[in-house]
Amino acid sequence: MAVTVERIKLGSQGLEVSKQGLGCMGMSFGYGVPKPEPEMISLIHHAINSGVTFLDTSDIYGPHTNEVLLGKALKGVVREKVQIATKFGATYKDGKFELEVRGDPAYVRASCEASLKRLDIDCIDLYYVHRIDTRVPIEVTMGELKKLVEEGKIKYVGLSEASASTIRRANAVHPITAVQNEWSLWTRDVEEEIVPTCRELGIGIVPYSPLGRGFLSSGPKPLENLSENDFRKKFPRFQGENFETNKLVYERICEMGTKKGCTPSQLALAWVQYQGADVSPIPGTTKIDNFNENLGSLSVTLTPREMAELNSLADMVKGNRSPLMENTFYNSETPPLLLERGIEIGGQWH
Ligand code: ATR
Repeated sequence: MAVTVERIKLGSQGLEVSKQGLGCMGMSFGYGVPKPEPEMISLIHHAINSGVTFLDTSDIYGPHTNEVLLGKALKGVVREKVQIATKFGATYKDGKFELEVRGDPAYVRASCEASLKRLDIDCIDLYYVHRIDTRVPIEVTMGELKKLVEEGKIKYVGLSEASASTIRRANAVHPITAVQNEWSLWTRDVEEEIVPTCRELGIGIVPYSPLGRGFLSSGPKPLENLSENDFRKKFPRFQGENFETNKLVYERICEMGTKKGCTPSQLALAWVQYQGADVSPIPGTTKIDNFNENLGSLSVTLTPREMAELNSLADMVKGNRSPLMENTFYNSETPPLLLERGIEIGGQWH
């Protein structure tokens, strides 16, 4: 049965996206070898034709190759039909699994111009600060983003892994349209402060890794033989004792799914969808069958009792959500902006 994909307003500035987006990272990066380009282009076209028009990438995926792939896929697509979200501000240090984070104005501008070229578009719909540079006042990073909006190079601004206070400070410089954070059955730390802050300020929410990087979809089995260039090997929840405990979480999801007549992925995604009309998760996939299955989550209904049962699963989860916790919202406070008679002082950031 064909599913009609609802459209929602993300944020308060006029951006409209599909109620479910498509995470493109795994097509080029992160989860094993890059997937064949023609197949990935067909998948992106299939998503757009199905009504999933909110496409998510970043300059760090590859690096760069995921944006190039998306750029190729966009050839011949009516530009207004899709909403392209990309990000800047985080790169891996010399091939190591460690992030270099930058938010100084020159870097913001150069990154935006490079992404526009790779995507081969005139304007980015939603441009996120991927990680927060704790050496640069957020007002300074936002100041440059505001200029890029005024110049028509980006339409809307987003933040990823920013604390509530950083979101507030950023929003005071230029309205933030969306905050992208990990949010799923097994990652719920965003609910304490970030989600209420977004709702108070009218900011849309984009949950990344809503399928727990595949763990909540296909479970532990295929993950036991991860290849060397699959970065899930480094994630605490996929290791040792944590992995064994987390298998039980997956089993519970499977049991519930069997009772309801839906798959674990559909259940996990429906739970995220149920968080509100201001939420558009971006599950990642490289397979048309999995994409179609995930789209089916939009027809899954959950009773309050089922929601309560799903809510209780997070208490069983073991391990940090990321091996790079120092680059998450827990560590995203930036120095105060120093002004003298309204003029910024001390502006040499790097
Ligand atoms: P990320 O945001 O990092 O992409 P995610 O959306 O939580 O993470 O999960 C993505 C992973 O879930 C991918 O490994 C994807 O594998 P495929 O590319 O093989 O699809 C997996 N995944 C997505 N949908 C799935 C489904 N319906 N069944 C099984 N695995 C699925």
